[in-house]
Amino acid sequence: MNRRFPVILLYGLLLLWSGSLRAQYVIRDAAEDRWYKNSIIYNLDVHTFKDSDGDGQGDFQGLIQQLDYLKGLGVDALWLAPFQPSPRRDDGYDVADFYGVDSTCGTPGDFAAFMYQAKLRGLRVIMDMVLNHTSDAHPWFKRARQDTASPYHQWYAWTQQRPSNYDKGMAFPGVQREVWSYDSVAKAWYYHRFYRFQPDLNFANPYLRSEAERILAYWLQQGVAGFRLDAVPFMIEVATPGVDQPPQQYEVITGMQRFVQWHNGSAIVLGEANVPPEDNVKYFGENGEGLQMMFNFYVNQYLFYAFATGKPALLVKALQDTKKKPATAQWAYFLRNHDEIDLGRLSTKQRNEVYQAFGPDTSMQLYDRGIRRRLAPMFNNNRPLMEMAYSLLFALPGTPVIRYGEEIGMGDDLRLQERLAVRTPMQWSSALQAGFTTAPKAFRPVISGGDYGYEKVNVAAQQQNPGSLLRVIQELIRLRRQCPEIGLGSWEIQQVAPAVLLMRYTFKGKSVLTLHNFSKMAQQVRLNAAAGDDYLLELTDKDKRQQLQPVNRRYDILLPGYGYKWYRVNAAL
Ligand code: NOJ
Repeated sequence: MNRRFPVILLYGLLLLWSGSLRAQYVIRDAAEDRWYKNSIIYNLDVHTFKDSDGDGQGDFQGLIQQLDYLKGLGVDALWLAPFQPSPRRDDGYDVADFYGVDSTCGTPGDFAAFMYQAKLRGLRVIMDMVLNHTSDAHPWFKRARQDTASPYHQWYAWTQQRPSNYDKGMAFPGVQREVWSYDSVAKAWYYHRFYRFQPDLNFANPYLRSEAERILAYWLQQGVAGFRLDAVPFMIEVATPGVDQPPQQYEVITGMQRFVQWHNGSAIVLGEANVPPEDNVKYFGENGEGLQMMFNFYVNQYLFYAFATGKPALLVKALQDTKKKPATAQWAYFLRNHDEIDLGRLSTKQRNEVYQAFGPDTSMQLYDRGIRRRLAPMFNNNRPLMEMAYSLLFALPGTPVIRYGEEIGMGDDLRLQERLAVRTPMQWSSALQAGFTTAPKAFRPVISGGDYGYEKVNVAAQQQNPGSLLRVIQELIRLRRQCPEIGLGSWEIQQVAPAVLLMRYTFKGKSVLTLHNFSKMAQQVRLNAAAGDDYLLELTDKDKRQQLQPVNRRYDILLPGYGYKWYRVNAAL
């Protein structure tokens, strides 16, 4: 036997022992394990992103071609708008087969190829899941209306008489006329919160619940990392004729979450639930047993109010009102999405102020509550304001979600119906049809001419230009990556000036400060150095990288009009 063997053995044991000892002295923070708490999500519709075969419609092969662009932008996860077979009367939110791929955007094989290519690049995929309703062309509904004795009849909500409240609670007021519509085949009224061609599914039915689980399992097996669950408050309601506020079945949410996690421990459900703050807990669950993520629609409305008025006071209140959530839950923040900006929770006066600033013409407004415009035209292409808005998006205490085309400042086409105005094809280059398709015509017009036309606003041009919005957003994403405190930590707000939002985030003993000026006028602010703060390192000023020392425990900072600054506390140069 080697004479040194006992010594080596002893040494090895010592190492093991010290390792296990060390392990006990590091507190693992479960927040770090949860990818969705500190990710950047990019939302796109395959149909409008990139056409590969020249038929004028975007497709999965086209999306594959652009994955390196998305990786280069720095996003972590893609949220795909509905791509299942559909008559597309609500842009795919009217699903006719939950298990398929719409032939306009490819085959199931193309989808699998896309999933593989996304995985190679470390991009997660979240898909829209529209279970509140089906298309009226779905075989379930066809059976349901033809044969009232069929089990499928019970998968929808029916009544034999027209309910008194048949025209209350519409999702699309001004366009939609009723929520209970007569079906001459079934000779009964059926319930639909959205358009009449989208009959609501009845989640009180246990067979439907199990079918919904099969659908989720199917897509999880295809490799998706989660679902953006459409219209959650409507999905869980028990449609009750004559009752304006029907009962909600919150156990449907917890059941889904449990089911999804059982199949894939890291998969998530991101809910579309525009609810008042006091209801958040019902959706997140007291201890995180509900949705892992929700879009913060509440903050979004006050965000635009703050942009419109130049004062973030009510935004601060909205952030505080939505602060409480289980440790495992996360907010998804956004500036614009694929729908109208919903300003329904503002007072009429406040809403009018936002209309006045960002959508004064009635053609820009929709459903008596919102604005159907993209951000760049709303802000009149005001670059400092746009940059400040995106900096803030990446600095809000949650997970930022950006919509395709926002990163280059795309515009809208108000000639298109309702929300289609903000869903025009992606502008890749100044080639014909914006480089979106080689067909002479895209299935939906690309924006051409003027300040927002593809000739001026496109990815290729902005990639070449270091001062472009695209490059600024790329840089902001890089910056956000270096500040996990924002997604994972605790936060507080200090009021330093009426036009300035100052936030401080702390995680594992490290802190970041961000300041955003909502006024077009420069603001001189003075802030108190917290105990233990020795100096600040500015992260947004790439050229100078200066340390800011406090004078008498205070920092004096000058923010230009719509200026923003991010600092790391006590970071050495
Ligand atoms: C919410 C989606 O965001 C919207 O685009 C759609 O029209 C409705 N749900 C109905 O599915």
